[in-house]
Amino acid sequence: MGCAISGSGLTPRTQESRNTEDESPARLTPRHIHLIKESWKVIQEDIAKVGIIMFVRLFETHPECKDVFFLFRDVEDLERLRTNRELRAHGLRVMSFIEKSVARLDQLERLETLALELGKSHYRYNAPPKYYGYVGAEFICAVQPILKDKWTAELEQAWKTLFQYVTGIMKEGYLEEERTKRNVMLTTSTKERPDKRNTMI
Ligand code: HEM
Repeated sequence: MGCAISGSGLTPRTQESRNTEDESPARLTPRHIHLIKESWKVIQEDIAKVGIIMFVRLFETHPECKDVFFLFRDVEDLERLRTNRELRAHGLRVMSFIEKSVARLDQLERLETLALELGKSHYRYNAPPKYYGYVGAEFICAVQPILKDKWTAELEQAWKTLFQYVTGIMKEGYLEEERTKRNVMLTTSTKERPDKRNTMI
């Protein structure tokens, strides 16, 4: 099950610890963008397979992530998930997001909007940012065997940067949604107070 992540040696854990408030945003270079687009042509042939492998690995390496998924939290035997229709559908949704991200690499402001909205929806799913870094690492492990000798340390760095870029913005979206919801709750509760006083009078 192991997957050696090479390059600068970012493991899922260290990736998580880098994902802190003061982390500077990931910078995608034209070279990264070129490498990602070229490799995507190969990866896209196997998106359903990659989606499943990625999530089964995520649940194996970080079981706490499984608990966030209402549909999978009670599944003990992860091997059964490999043929689970819902996991396949979920994996495809995530892979289709990656496909859209690759398509927007030349219009980063459009990619930002997409990732910001995704972060907001993850607040509603109760999926906190501390877990996002794991997904890129599992994606890399899932696509390495597909790309075979086309896989290089430079390509790995390019994909890591894309995931750091996207998950950094997702985190912003998550926090924005959290603030919005908190303000709505505060406004509602301060509005309620005078009403209550009125009914008392
Ligand atoms: C790079 C990181 C991630 C990406 C790109 C991603 C992408 C997506 C996408 C595209 C969806 C479909 C619904 C939508 O568009 O709002 C989704 C749903 C969801 N994600 Fe994520 N996700 C990531 C990380 C995570 C993590 C780490 C967790 C849990 C620990 C998680 C939990 C969920 C849940 C609970 C749903 C809703 C259920 C469903 O649609 O089947 N996500 N995610």
